[in-house]
Amino acid sequence: MYTKAQQQQFFELSKNFLKSEATALDYESLKNALIFHEWKYYVESQPLLSDFEYDQLYKQLETLEAANPKMMAPDSPTQRVSSDLTADFKSVDHLIPMLSLANSYNAEDLEDFDRQIRKLTLTEGDITYTVEPKYDGGSIALIYENDMLVRAATRGNGAQGDDITPNARAISAIPLKANFSKYGIYKVELRGEAIIEKNNFGKINDKREQQGLQLFANPRNAATGGLRTKDSSETRNRGLEAFIFQMGYAVDADGNDMFSQFSGHFEIINMLGDLGFKIPKAEKKKCSNIQEASEFCAYWQEQRDTYPYEIDGMVVKVDDLALQAKCGSTQHHPRWAIAYKFKAKQATTTLEDIEYQIGKIGSITPVAKLKPVQLAGVTVSSVSLHNEEFISGKDLRIGDTILVERAGDVIPYIVKSFPELRSGSEQEVVFPTACPSCNSTLIKQEGEAAWRCVNPSCTAQILQKLIFHVSKDAMNIDGFGKSYVERFYELGWIKDLSDIYNLDYDAIAQLDGFGAKSAKKVKDAIEHSKQNPIYRLLHSLSIHHLGKKASKIIAEHINHVLDLRQWSAEQLTGIKDIGPVVAENVVAYFAEDYNIEQLEKLESYGVNLSQTEADQPVQVADDAPLLGKTILFTGTLEQMSRKEAQALAVTAGAKNISAVSGNLNILVAGAKAGSKLKKAQAIGTVEIMTEAEFLELVS
Ligand code: IVH
Repeated sequence: MYTKAQQQQFFELSKNFLKSEATALDYESLKNALIFHEWKYYVESQPLLSDFEYDQLYKQLETLEAANPKMMAPDSPTQRVSSDLTADFKSVDHLIPMLSLANSYNAEDLEDFDRQIRKLTLTEGDITYTVEPKYDGGSIALIYENDMLVRAATRGNGAQGDDITPNARAISAIPLKANFSKYGIYKVELRGEAIIEKNNFGKINDKREQQGLQLFANPRNAATGGLRTKDSSETRNRGLEAFIFQMGYAVDADGNDMFSQFSGHFEIINMLGDLGFKIPKAEKKKCSNIQEASEFCAYWQEQRDTYPYEIDGMVVKVDDLALQAKCGSTQHHPRWAIAYKFKAKQATTTLEDIEYQIGKIGSITPVAKLKPVQLAGVTVSSVSLHNEEFISGKDLRIGDTILVERAGDVIPYIVKSFPELRSGSEQEVVFPTACPSCNSTLIKQEGEAAWRCVNPSCTAQILQKLIFHVSKDAMNIDGFGKSYVERFYELGWIKDLSDIYNLDYDAIAQLDGFGAKSAKKVKDAIEHSKQNPIYRLLHSLSIHHLGKKASKIIAEHINHVLDLRQWSAEQLTGIKDIGPVVAENVVAYFAEDYNIEQLEKLESYGVNLSQTEADQPVQVADDAPLLGKTILFTGTLEQMSRKEAQALAVTAGAKNISAVSGNLNILVAGAKAGSKLKKAQAIGTVEIMTEAEFLELVS
């Protein structure tokens, strides 16, 4: 439809009009640019502009046409509602046209709207408005006849839509039968929005990723796609829901209008809720004047992320039906309603550069440096690109125009690039093969997405490890943040973990911006952290894949951190919920002399390496049979797995340990017990028992 060159031209033109407004001489170009953007949005479903930017251009066109009515072109976007009809579905007429909404962006816009309403309706006092969410999904029109759902259609071009009845029937939130007869209504048309819950959207994309299907950019695309699928079981699988926000048409069996029995819009929506339709509840409010309506809109602008559905604004509607009728409609929108659009969450900008960050275990994360852009009130200039595949999957090049989104409280991410806007000067991304900090060759382990630097002396990596060690999640050294670590690292005061516990506080007190008080604070926080339970220390060591949960589990099974030197990967996987990858990484860590030296140094500086109550969560009775005993299982057990036996021992008050030493109280020897049994026998103080004897003891 449009060549690449035309697309580039329209995009440039639009950006120029956004910078300096179009004049009457620009009318034709502006109109054509808007027609192009309509096509990108409705037909291609690939908008190049944010809604806010599009609305700015649309307003410019409206202003030009209002000032020069003779200039009005018959194909102007202001003269029609856009069409997204496809030939695949049967086209059906709407009972009454499905119009769009005019937009507002702030309290002043709403006050202008209110003034206009009072003028149109000759009202002197306050107008009552209903305010409700503007759902960001796909619009639908449902017809019920004689209480049965007989037809469902998409909005289409506003006059005609696609018949999607089988798909609507597959949406559980749409009742197949509703008791309209209760109100004497024989035929009714309801308007609403098919929508997918944000949480559910994540699950849909996870599943698509597993199936190797293309991911949806946002819940709206997943919902509109779900409405128009040829297979209604797919609509169902996507978990589509539908909110009803309007009753457009309602007559009795003789064709008499049935609206007059309701006082207003708010009452009608609640009536539909009573009939079993999904409607906005606490998210809608009947407001006694425009100021109250405006406050409710502002409140939801702040709260939007807490709502489980995507909403891109609120809709303010004159509540009284008689007043609505007095206002009437334009060809484009009803005059009695207006959308209050939230600040843009999507915007286009330029990908200026890519930087490569080195993580605490050496993973290389590419980070996009963007031309700064405003997104829902926040300036975004840097966005993670995750890994090499993400860059190639999205076909990103340096210099590309890209679409960025900030959904919910989620960190911003790049939705897509626009290859059609490339000039040819964009550069392909060449992922580094060497570490940007220490220049050692990067490696990629099987099954992992990230390239890694595996040089243990890589300074960038060491710094990240130190930052993680002191963080809230790890040793939680209160007030000792990233900036302190960086500063002390640069000064050469902390080169490794143990240095953190051997700082010269007098020297810190002399530093610019510190003083005795701050130095004391740092000291107190560090001293306090020395008493942490060992799971925190284990987690703080940056052992690849060893998270907080696994650290806690392992901590429950050891007396002392250095006991892990004796654990094999097989023994570790014997612990419930410890997988082979974590097990191997732990074993590898404790096989390194350097790491052991570090831990011994930590202990010599007073850091706790012994198990504490906080590491041992199991509640044990005072008279538990193995209270305070250490135990070890060896050989093959007959009646239970080793994991089960270890758990049983813990509930009986014992601690499982891994090595045979003078500290071991009980050794349970199963079949084919070998060296451990011999060693225990040699020690002489270890009580050796069979599996059956152990069971008898704990039962
Ligand atoms: S009222 C006749 N209310 O927004 C009144 N529309 O930009 C016109 N939308 O196509 C619609 N939530 O699909 C209305 N609470 C709401 C809405 C809503 C979402 C959609 C609707 C419409 C579009 C207009």
